[in-house]
Amino acid sequence: MVKLNPNFAKLQANYLFSTVRERTNAYAAAHPDAKIIRLGIGDVTKPLAPAVIEAMHAAVEEMGHAETFKGYGEDFGYSFLRSAIADNDYAPLGIKLDIGEIFISDGAKSDTGNIGELFSEDCTVAVCDPVYPVYVDSNVMAGRAGDYDGERWSRLVYMPCVESNGFVPDLPEKPVDMIYLCFPNNPTGAHATYDDLKRWVDYALKTGAVILYDAAYSCFISEGLPRSIYEIEGARGCAIEFKSFSKTAGFTGVRCAYTVIPQELKVGGVSVNAMWRRRQNTKFNEASYISQRGAAAIYTEAGAAQVAEVIGYYKRNALMLRDGLRSAGFTVYGGENSPYIWMRTPDGMSSWDFFDTLLDRVQVVGTPGSGFGPSGEGFFRLTAFGTLEMSEQALERIRSAF
Ligand code: MLT
Repeated sequence: MVKLNPNFAKLQANYLFSTVRERTNAYAAAHPDAKIIRLGIGDVTKPLAPAVIEAMHAAVEEMGHAETFKGYGEDFGYSFLRSAIADNDYAPLGIKLDIGEIFISDGAKSDTGNIGELFSEDCTVAVCDPVYPVYVDSNVMAGRAGDYDGERWSRLVYMPCVESNGFVPDLPEKPVDMIYLCFPNNPTGAHATYDDLKRWVDYALKTGAVILYDAAYSCFISEGLPRSIYEIEGARGCAIEFKSFSKTAGFTGVRCAYTVIPQELKVGGVSVNAMWRRRQNTKFNEASYISQRGAAAIYTEAGAAQVAEVIGYYKRNALMLRDGLRSAGFTVYGGENSPYIWMRTPDGMSSWDFFDTLLDRVQVVGTPGSGFGPSGEGFFRLTAFGTLEMSEQALERIRSAF
């Protein structure tokens, strides 16, 4: 008789954002007139940039004619997009990437969730605490997390990201093999300095660990902070980087992202880049031509300016939420170089109690910090990806409720 992967039975019943959605939908069903403001999941609200739309329309047109029709794409993504990424996202930072090191995909979520397939089941995994749940859940599915005691997984190494370390983790005390880092951070909104990343790169090179660096929010960074881990010397030998068009260009519903695996990254002499090629060749058939044409349009002069305007809009929302909540007496982090606001719940309330109270009293939805890990208890995350009107109203409502 067939047997199931027993690791799935260990997972908590629901993915965090599904739980938030279900609870919100249940409230909406019970209160049909309620005007709910959803700042829970980090989903964008501004439409695609005109340059992106134009490029996608042109791509659709190409697909409609035999002479220009495209079937399966180039392996690992069209070279027009991979070259544009190398030239625009990396060359200006002084990073030289070969396009063979860039893999186009349908999302950083898929890639950060799938990358673990390259590593042995007995690797020790280190995660920030709080953490984007995909890194944890995908390792639970792979059998690397051990058992759950209601708060923690027995085989994961949790690296607390708390007020006292500025939400940037300290190096782990025991040896680890796979290290997930995300900056600007989801959920705390913290950012890492060059020195912070250098510490991690030095550690990984010394111990033979791999850093899985999620830079999905790097477009929110202003001057003076690293936008890529490859700005750090030595990172090409120990780090994989994930980036996405979701938050940069509003592609959450379009789907396009990319992962960088440098040729120098070898484990026991084996190329990790070659392993990922093999994996992707077998299991993945690229983001659509239309998505990739749309993504490439953000690197044109007009596209870059339009996308920068939208990012600026979300950044202003973030600062407005942060400053407004602070002036109302809340303790608030993040919101600068980041679309996430990480606030302390008032009066020592638990994260889920605050979620319920806020929903019930003023119909504002955020994400309970404890859903991201034990060190998230007592915190609450709001996103700046709503419209300005939503963000202003949410601020007013939260102020009025407390
Ligand atoms: C989040 O809300 O943390 C993100 O939107 C989730 C994601 O990008 O998958």
